[in-house]
Amino acid sequence: MKKTLITLFVLAFAFSKADEGMWMPQLIKAMQGDMKKNGFKLTADQIYSINKSSMKDAVAIFGGGCTAEAISAEGLILTNHHCGFSSIAALSSVGKDYLKDGFFAMKREEEIPCKGLTVAFIKRIEDVTTRVFSSLKESYSDTQKDSAITAVVKTIEREAMQGNHYQAFVRPFYYGNEYYLFVSEVFTDVRLVGAPPENIGKFGGETDNWVWPRHNADFSVFRIYAGADNKPADYSDKNIPYRPFWHFPISLKGTQPGDFTMVYGFPGRTQEYLTSFAVDLLMNQQDPIRVSLREKRLSVMEEDMKANDTVRLQYVSRYANVANAYKKWKGEMIGLNKSNAVAKKQKLESEFIIALKDNPTKMARYNEVLLQMQKLYADYAPLSRQYDYFTECLLGVDGIRMAGGYMNVFSELRKKQAGQENKFAEAYKNATPAIPFKNYNKRTDQRLFESMLGIYVKEISREQMPYLLDSMLTAHNGNVSSLANWLYENSSFVDNQKAKLMQSGFEQNAKLYERDPFYRLASAIYQHYQKGVVPQVNYFERQISALQKEFMQGLRETVKTRKFYPDANGTLRVAYGKVEGYKGKDGVEFGYYTTLDGLVEKNSTGEEDFEVQKRLLELHAQKDYGVYADKNGQLRTAFIASNHTTGGNSGSPVLNGNGELIGTNFDRNWEGTMSDVMYNVSFCRNIVLDIRFTLWIIDKYAGAGYLLKEMTIRK
Ligand code: ARG
Ligand code: GLU
Repeated sequence: MKKTLITLFVLAFAFSKADEGMWMPQLIKAMQGDMKKNGFKLTADQIYSINKSSMKDAVAIFGGGCTAEAISAEGLILTNHHCGFSSIAALSSVGKDYLKDGFFAMKREEEIPCKGLTVAFIKRIEDVTTRVFSSLKESYSDTQKDSAITAVVKTIEREAMQGNHYQAFVRPFYYGNEYYLFVSEVFTDVRLVGAPPENIGKFGGETDNWVWPRHNADFSVFRIYAGADNKPADYSDKNIPYRPFWHFPISLKGTQPGDFTMVYGFPGRTQEYLTSFAVDLLMNQQDPIRVSLREKRLSVMEEDMKANDTVRLQYVSRYANVANAYKKWKGEMIGLNKSNAVAKKQKLESEFIIALKDNPTKMARYNEVLLQMQKLYADYAPLSRQYDYFTECLLGVDGIRMAGGYMNVFSELRKKQAGQENKFAEAYKNATPAIPFKNYNKRTDQRLFESMLGIYVKEISREQMPYLLDSMLTAHNGNVSSLANWLYENSSFVDNQKAKLMQSGFEQNAKLYERDPFYRLASAIYQHYQKGVVPQVNYFERQISALQKEFMQGLRETVKTRKFYPDANGTLRVAYGKVEGYKGKDGVEFGYYTTLDGLVEKNSTGEEDFEVQKRLLELHAQKDYGVYADKNGQLRTAFIASNHTTGGNSGSPVLNGNGELIGTNFDRNWEGTMSDVMYNVSFCRNIVLDIRFTLWIIDKYAGAGYLLKEMTIRK
């Protein structure tokens, strides 16, 4: 008994950090006391309510995976530049390059509709766990359970959308121990209001990405338009600005270390309750493999991009995507190593086992979970390795994906030729790229093939690789370059001119194209992995997640002293913490804010990623910061805080204790990216664009100060 008490005490102590956690807003009342203690001055009701307007009415899912917030009563919303990036790029052309030059509407009529962009607010959240589980019978097999859940979830969603214009979706929480329904209102007429030039919004480029200190004004501004009834309506010039039920007042007061901060947004995915076995696999196998493969891939792209401007433009956006995850994983490895993550998880697991000892029922239910998990991970590791080499190595080559994309086309064509029902036309349309290929360079791709396959054949044994690859290699005396040459010279799938010819007579000559060497190789690769590896990976993932569900439940039942928050899953969450710097490597201490002076300092290094608009440098020289200046006269650009955030939190409002907007979340520090797996308050920080820098850019740099009139600004 005594031992258990001590254990619980240790656990409570280890876990009750105000800074960790992404809480469900409808349950935030449970945290209210702690939030108050940390400086929050409003009530839980003001964060989330379904009867009155509350902050949740100002927080939106922006596009596919970012957050935005309402900052005026007239539909103005703020998000990151990197969140608006694809919309801004889509509106740009050679003559009017809004990425390069930036864009600001000087009146409402100049705001530009963004086709396909949606913004969604959450109307209500409902616990549907009981209903979901009541559809299950004890006697059901796992598959029967899965299909029963899928069916009841569909019904719940359908019912929630009946007789209204809302969207509804149900999501599992705590690995399927609970289910929640989300009802949302999706707006489709969204217009670009303004964005700074890319070299300001993305100042620091890949050099600074995932790194503190930071100086980019990572913001863009949009406006939601609605029908006369304030409800969503597709674009029309009759639409009027949407009137949100809440918009955030903006504080110009700035931040002090220790100040309360809260992030309200849509974090995408975390895995905080992984076992030591999973963390071990992640940091010692998966991350290292993925990082080293991407490093190689990036270096090939970079060489070609540096040598040729056309190639640079073709690959710049892909490079940024590949680099973003690469750099994150690398930081994650460093952070997990630095904090002895596996040992920490093991400690928790042994404490969990000890806590079970006093409870025979729980013991019977949970005792085997960790042992089974250990066994599963041991068997899963080699498969996971194969899978990573498939996705990160082989699928990193465009040629393989482009040619492989035709598999379905040939199979539908065979049906068509046999007079059977078929989807040939659709499949053909989906697989056929525009000519010339977008963002593709044959020489670069051939070099990627050489380097990626070069690694692949070293790391994967001949027995484990697709048979055809093995025999093609043998035919080329094991020489990957010679194989690459042969493939790229003789394929219609990777060459613009030959592909054009192919497209003009595809059906008649299909037999010929099906014998194309690159197509044969690519389809052999896909078949090998889709038949031999992917189903096994799926099998393991199912087993693991079933056990993970048990482990999660076990933790929640035994560790009563801690409040467990559910992993991020793309739904609305609240994180709170405080403004604070951190200790980095030995001897390095990071301050909590940056200034425009620091931007100019970086610029003076002459490095390419730090080039910036001349006008910004001139304005800096004039030091005309007006009401946006901090007390000491500096213009602050960014600050860091201990809020638990992840991808998807980009663009999230960062609020002070009064619920006023003090910044926009846009990144995390490098070592801190491990917080997706294990949050560590001593060095995990989110990076926030200071709202005063945003307003200064809008007002003084872009001359669009008229926009500030509709905001609620508190001096
Ligand atoms: N690291 C930030 C986020 O995931 C920003 C990414 C965009 N910026 C960039 N320089 N690539 O995802
Ligand atoms: N930049 C990330 C995003 O796009 C946010 C940073 C993070 O992952 O914490 O969502």
